[in-house]
Amino acid sequence: MDKKTELIIDKLHSDRSLTEEEYAYLIEHRDEESTCRLASLAVAAREQVYGRDVFIRGLIEISNYCKNDCFYCGIRRSNKDCERYRLGEDEILRCCEEGYDLGFRTFVLQGGEDAFYTDERLCGIIRTIKERFPECAVTLSLGERSKESYRRLYEAGADRYLLRHETADEKHYASLHPSELTLENRMRCLKDLQEIGYQTGCGFMVGSPGQTVKELAKDLRWIETFKPAMCGIGPFIPHKATRYADMKPGSVELTCYLLSVIRLIQPNILLPATTALATLDDKGQEKGILAGANVIMPNLSPMEARSKYRLYDNKAYSGTEAAQNVEDLKRRMEEIGYKVVTNRGDIKGN
Ligand code: 5AD
Repeated sequence: MDKKTELIIDKLHSDRSLTEEEYAYLIEHRDEESTCRLASLAVAAREQVYGRDVFIRGLIEISNYCKNDCFYCGIRRSNKDCERYRLGEDEILRCCEEGYDLGFRTFVLQGGEDAFYTDERLCGIIRTIKERFPECAVTLSLGERSKESYRRLYEAGADRYLLRHETADEKHYASLHPSELTLENRMRCLKDLQEIGYQTGCGFMVGSPGQTVKELAKDLRWIETFKPAMCGIGPFIPHKATRYADMKPGSVELTCYLLSVIRLIQPNILLPATTALATLDDKGQEKGILAGANVIMPNLSPMEARSKYRLYDNKAYSGTEAAQNVEDLKRRMEEIGYKVVTNRGDIKGN
């Protein structure tokens, strides 16, 4: 590690803020020493806020119908080889029941942008979940909607909303999405969600097509100002039915490095070690936790749904990412000195 990298890390640690150029330098000078230094500072920062607790969220993939056509995504509407499904209210509730018994106190309803899920339907489902499981948090991850819609869902009881910003750079955003999708609207959604009162999550893929150090530096700067409650980052993984079929997947090591940086930007942030990390590396989620992540989102979807909710090739769904293997997950976290806890796992001190 050179002197400048060392100084930049010190500055990040003390100020929780860097310039775009400094973020870029830090990423370009990633080596063993800078990785270790960032990880140990990140782990200490997290420990001060959350101790060694790992929060778990039960992920329920409610639909893989999607009206969007994001160029990188396996469930994009123009993928005719994707077998579509959606879960009904009763099936979603059964997932929650199973999850509750396994110790989950947050349910994440995630899906493509599926017009079937009107505000009315979703509000009904959210109210029922909150009635049956009053001490549980409901997180939604259902894409772009109007502010009015976000407000109705919040009033029905939803607590959190995940919507990755994907990239903070306008041109890069336009290269990954068809023209009807804009960064401007994405940011509008994120701002609306925060204003309404959701614990709001953003995020991006690492190694997405066309991404360079510059785009990553911009993402980090943007996260500084947005102050999300959560941030989901995971390596890009190609899907065979997309134009990026032959691209290399993103780097697990760079993802972990960025997890450490984000932890230092915002010590109380909720940071998942994502399924994409587990997909590329058997120990990917452990590596994520050891770099500063503190959330794992095991899959509670019915088995048939899981194999169809395929955002990218080889998506893991039967190892520790399966909610049914939560005992296995607990053991794996214990092995690295962490503890899976059963509570809502809200953001602290916001
Ligand atoms: N590789 C990794 N992550 C992906 N996502 C979509 N497609 C891929 C892919 N090929 C991520 C996007 C999206 C989230 C639901 O999954 O960031 O927001």
